[in-house]
Amino acid sequence: MRTHNCDVLVVGGGIIGLVTAWRAAQRGLRTAVADPAPGGGAAHVAAGMLAAVTELQYGEQTLLDLNLASADRYPDFVAELTAATGLDTGYRPCGTLAVALDADDRAQLRDLHAFQTSLGLEAQWLSGRDCRRLEPMLAPGVRGGLRVDGDHQVDPRRLAAALLRAAELAGVAFLRSAVARVECAADRLTGAVLADGTSVAAGRTVLAAGCESGRIAGIPPDVLPPVRPVKGQILRLRVPPAHAPFLSRTVRAVVRGSHVYLVPRENGELVLGATSEESGWDTAVTAGGVYELLRDAHDVVPGITELPLTETLAGLRPATPDNAPLLGRTALDGLLLATGHHRNGVLLTPVTGDAMAEVLTSDTGELPPYAAAFGALRFGPARQELTV
Ligand code: GLY
Repeated sequence: MRTHNCDVLVVGGGIIGLVTAWRAAQRGLRTAVADPAPGGGAAHVAAGMLAAVTELQYGEQTLLDLNLASADRYPDFVAELTAATGLDTGYRPCGTLAVALDADDRAQLRDLHAFQTSLGLEAQWLSGRDCRRLEPMLAPGVRGGLRVDGDHQVDPRRLAAALLRAAELAGVAFLRSAVARVECAADRLTGAVLADGTSVAAGRTVLAAGCESGRIAGIPPDVLPPVRPVKGQILRLRVPPAHAPFLSRTVRAVVRGSHVYLVPRENGELVLGATSEESGWDTAVTAGGVYELLRDAHDVVPGITELPLTETLAGLRPATPDNAPLLGRTALDGLLLATGHHRNGVLLTPVTGDAMAEVLTSDTGELPPYAAAFGALRFGPARQELTV
């Protein structure tokens, strides 16, 4: 039987697992990632909006602080990744425009603007005409909008590729197999057995397996994180050079109560998303999902129907009961979490890497103050308080 020894085993090689492994290896820890296909996961599906302000939700001010802290870190984070790997992450500080199509949407967006302003966030109200001046492809019926110049984008597939390379260069070992079960001895998690038979002995194990984190074999039921899948269907279109520039920034709207967003990349890709469905582990792309996304996006930007449709895909967001991530120590010695990022996994990648590196290397094993509200114990046997 093949064996592997490490200080830190990261279960899951999506962007959260990769950033955790990269940061741990940079701090001198012998680190391994277990994943049959590292660099995949939910980020392969995601649009990559860094939308701390435009995706603000009522009652989630604590999460907002973490989102803003991570957005602030993005420029240095991607610069460091590119310097380490030579790979571009597609980070684009282009801003976002959230628009309204009817009186109800307009009222909702006005309320959001008032809430943003009350929290000191930067967002500017624009008339429909000013929105169209900024983005001429918008529908003539746009009634107004919010210009948020601080909400940017990154290309999650390129980000994942850069993180994978950075982790390899930092000495992370990639064990290309799934975890069959974790192993415990004397009330402590001691490692894992992989599907290919490899036995991994680890000082600490970090679960970063997205929504799969809630069903890893061998973890006691009361320690398993309360993470559930929330399906998102998403489309990719291509803007031919003759149609460029199509959109210069992310455009989003609420149409008939559903969120729709259009994220234009510099390489001509236009990402159009996303549904949000509580439908278990199903990842089928449905005719209804594609129809609704195209219909709603067409209401906002009618010209999309001219563009080639290049990809339809569905993924699973890892959601928690309070929509916020689960980070750090659990009630089981040797087991830590970095999961449950729900709609904010791409945005929260830099701050998660930093927080997990702190936990893994500090004497106390505590989360740093900026992440303290997101402790993994808050839903577990030893509950902590979280105010979001
Ligand atoms: N943050 C965008 C989404 O989850 O669809």
